[in-house]
Amino acid sequence: MEFTKLHENPDVLHVGACPPRSYYLPKAPDDGGESSRVCSLNGTWSFRYFDSFLDVFPDGTAADICFDEDDMDEIEVPSCWQNAGYDCHMYTNVRYPIPFDPPFVPDENPCGLYLRRFEISAEDRTRRTYLNFEGVDSCFYLWVNEQFAGYSQVSHSTSEFDITDLLVEGENAVAVLVLKWCDGTYLEDQDKLRMSGIFRDVYLISRPENHIRDFFVKTALNEDFSRATIRVETELCGKPEISAALYAPDGELLQIAAGENPVFTVERPQLWNAEDPVQYTLRLATPDEVIEQKVGISKIEIRGGVLYFNGVKIKLRGVNRHDSDPVTGYTISREQAKRDLILMKQHNINAVRTSHYPNAPWFLQLCSEYGFYVIAEADIESHGASMQTGAHGMDEYADVALNPIFDKAILDRIQRSVIRDKNNACVLMWSYGNESGWGPSFEKAGAWVKSYDPSRLTHYENTYYDARGHKNDLSSLDTVSRMYPAPEWIEEYFADPKNTQPLVLCEYIHAMGNGPGDAEQYQQLIMRHDGFMGGFVWEWCDHAVYGGTTPDNRDIFRYGGDFGEFPNDGNFCMDGLVYPDRTPHTGLLEYKNVIRPVRAELLDAKTAEIRLTNYRDFTNTDEFLMISWEIQQDGETTACGVLDDIAIAPHESGVIRLNGEVPETGDVTILLNYSAKKDDSVFFPKGHALGFDQLIVSRAARSEAPLAPGGVQAVEDGRHITVTGPDFRYVFSKTQGVFESLVKSNASLMTRPMTWNTYRAPTDNDQYIDAAWKQAGYDCPQVKVYGCESRVENGVAAIDCTLSLAAVYRRPFLRLECRFEIDGAGRIRAEIRGARDTAQAYLPRFGLRMFLPKSFDTAEYFGYGPYESYCDKHQASYLGRFAQRTDDLFEDYVKPQENGSRFGCKSVTVTDGAGAVTVTSPADFSFNLSRYTQEELAAKKHNYELNQSPDVVFCFDYRMSGVGSNSCGPQLAKPMRFDEETFTFRFDLVVE
Ligand code: GAL
Ligand code: MG
Repeated sequence: MEFTKLHENPDVLHVGACPPRSYYLPKAPDDGGESSRVCSLNGTWSFRYFDSFLDVFPDGTAADICFDEDDMDEIEVPSCWQNAGYDCHMYTNVRYPIPFDPPFVPDENPCGLYLRRFEISAEDRTRRTYLNFEGVDSCFYLWVNEQFAGYSQVSHSTSEFDITDLLVEGENAVAVLVLKWCDGTYLEDQDKLRMSGIFRDVYLISRPENHIRDFFVKTALNEDFSRATIRVETELCGKPEISAALYAPDGELLQIAAGENPVFTVERPQLWNAEDPVQYTLRLATPDEVIEQKVGISKIEIRGGVLYFNGVKIKLRGVNRHDSDPVTGYTISREQAKRDLILMKQHNINAVRTSHYPNAPWFLQLCSEYGFYVIAEADIESHGASMQTGAHGMDEYADVALNPIFDKAILDRIQRSVIRDKNNACVLMWSYGNESGWGPSFEKAGAWVKSYDPSRLTHYENTYYDARGHKNDLSSLDTVSRMYPAPEWIEEYFADPKNTQPLVLCEYIHAMGNGPGDAEQYQQLIMRHDGFMGGFVWEWCDHAVYGGTTPDNRDIFRYGGDFGEFPNDGNFCMDGLVYPDRTPHTGLLEYKNVIRPVRAELLDAKTAEIRLTNYRDFTNTDEFLMISWEIQQDGETTACGVLDDIAIAPHESGVIRLNGEVPETGDVTILLNYSAKKDDSVFFPKGHALGFDQLIVSRAARSEAPLAPGGVQAVEDGRHITVTGPDFRYVFSKTQGVFESLVKSNASLMTRPMTWNTYRAPTDNDQYIDAAWKQAGYDCPQVKVYGCESRVENGVAAIDCTLSLAAVYRRPFLRLECRFEIDGAGRIRAEIRGARDTAQAYLPRFGLRMFLPKSFDTAEYFGYGPYESYCDKHQASYLGRFAQRTDDLFEDYVKPQENGSRFGCKSVTVTDGAGAVTVTSPADFSFNLSRYTQEELAAKKHNYELNQSPDVVFCFDYRMSGVGSNSCGPQLAKPMRFDEETFTFRFDLVVE
């Protein structure tokens, strides 16, 4: 076998490596916290980057490997070499970064040579030494002291080598040649920024000759959960004597046991669940070594198509998470991981799918400790096979799964994931990978998983078609998993009695840019169907590469295409609930409230009687819930109070009564703010917001202010109607059908003429409909005025105007009949009757756009705030009175797009403190106030490129379409589209 070609040989996956085992770091018997038997090799290594693998072996022999650091650079281990300035980043989603020609990869295969020296003591030589790599992308050849020591692949799994026999006392050297691509690349086509190198920890473990090589902690519970048996199945190296001890969660020694497979019995065990992640501690001692392992006791079952965890029907409120950071790439420290998990806890998330590969081995320990249900996914995705002919093909999709040369690798990858992580309480499901089709390879691997660990459920999504005539055998799968199905599909699934397995959405509500707009709709379905386990938002974070700051101090985040790479998928990697730096998107706030632990329903407005339902699966509200409530009338608080002694069992409802009068008139609402009753040392302090409910008691009837007649005049010429009054002069354009200038008290309100507005800077979710919008001319309609007349009647000027909006060469998409009345005080009352051409695409919005002086940067409004809100995305906002500056109304998406709209408004005043313009309407409307025009937002690829407008842009809309999640999900739901055939927009505009 030619050793330099191992990386193109799917039959040889690992050479010289130990078989996989569960993750643990053994200690010396008297070690305290840190293990003295583990020697980290993280730190500075000598490094040399080569454009091609061929350059490393000029004569094609292993002896050429350079053990001389003289002409080498330095690099930090762990890291990705692209982040250290070598090679270049690439972002491709589906398409492979190399030609599809398995198992071959390009000969010009970039690679990095790593070299590091370390000391081995005489005492170390009395034991065996194991060299561990927790993650290397994509594969590596290993030399120790100039001798070839092995080869391994599977980027996100640990490779361990027993290098004892290659070591000497004193100085030793290890060289690692990491290749960018290998046959494994065909199985690592996850949608991610592509990076390479030794990106996870490297260390040596010093172990006695006789030791426990692997162990599997198996817990079993009796029927009524009153007794647990914990059996530790070990696999030994030599014949160590084992003494095992089990400690209670509070540290008390419970039992000791001995033998090769120690067994413990625990009476009245404390069970692990994500809300109360109690863990026991197992201590496995052999002479001269100790292994400590946390143990969570739980029972996972499916009965009658429903998931039960410890006998309870739980729901997964999950996210998909990649190891990703804009500065460190794939290299994630515990602090970074903790930050993610803590943020998730703060936002009510209880489940993580490790999309689409095993995370660092300690990551699942954190999930077990913090309390998350995990779909632990194997390092497999071969999505790019579907694009091998250039067009997406279903048969082609499964070509890797169906290709027997990959059978071994698929089994290896799934085994590595399960074997390494099996002792973590958090693992709810083993996932065989992502988007790789299905074939005998998965059938064999699935059967292995079920026999190896029947205590967990199994998951895999890409099963719903039979490729190339293979009849899929899905008997190893416990769940039906789908991504991005429309709500209708889910209804049909549960309506069909043939569907007997629980459903999980391994991906849903694609969180790209401004969205998702359908979180609540899915949550309603999740709550309605027992067989619906829940879902995992795609995805947790935006992926980008940090590029420093602009001269004016704006952060530069780069995404696909910014590295000059081909192919690239642009900003499709920017689809998270948090920005690359972990600032929450408004989408995360939306999701947080959608999955709030408690929901309320108004039973009786008079007596303020409310039904509360506890959606926690294991915790009574008296343990976690405090409610501060407010009764509001027209946005003012009329009564408030705090309730912190409500006892409602999990999944139960209870009735509460607020001790406050509920006003009978006006806009009356009850706001129930849920917060943490207790301090939680890790996740949040007492008082941390858990979510809220706003109950709308009544909406005020809206009466329009009477017009103030008198003192107005209207003068016309060919192009204009000029309306003057005691303190104002308004100029109306007879060619545009709107006002061109508004001067009040000698001050000019508008810096540019008002325009009709039928477009928005496309959101990422608008990316497919946008072409239709542009073709229809919504972004720059031509206005045709057919008739425009003015008169003064009863002291009020009136302008009647009929017009249409159209794209060049197309028939008008919108016809408007407008009446504008102007009274003596300068109040403008508009009534606009619209008729759409329904053969053309639905409208993103319809309204008017004004350009105001720069100083007008505050909006006072009564509507849904304080966050951006849309007809389908306002769960994080509530109806109230708000005053916000343009900067606070702006949502700074890395790829600029429509943002910051406020939905459900009754009035808005834009002011600079002295002057003001107020819009009110008898029907709820939306508005935006921004420093940026929609054209600027649409034109720029990155937020740091944005130029502010010389004015403030004020748009108010009869309707703004919803945002949905169409970037990868279903089309925008029909009711959320502005698709009305006819409509009437009435508003008053008052300039002060
Ligand atoms: C899914 C895939 C994810 C991601 C997402 C789009 O099909 O599983 O990895 O690509 O689409 O953002
Ligand atoms: Mg994919």
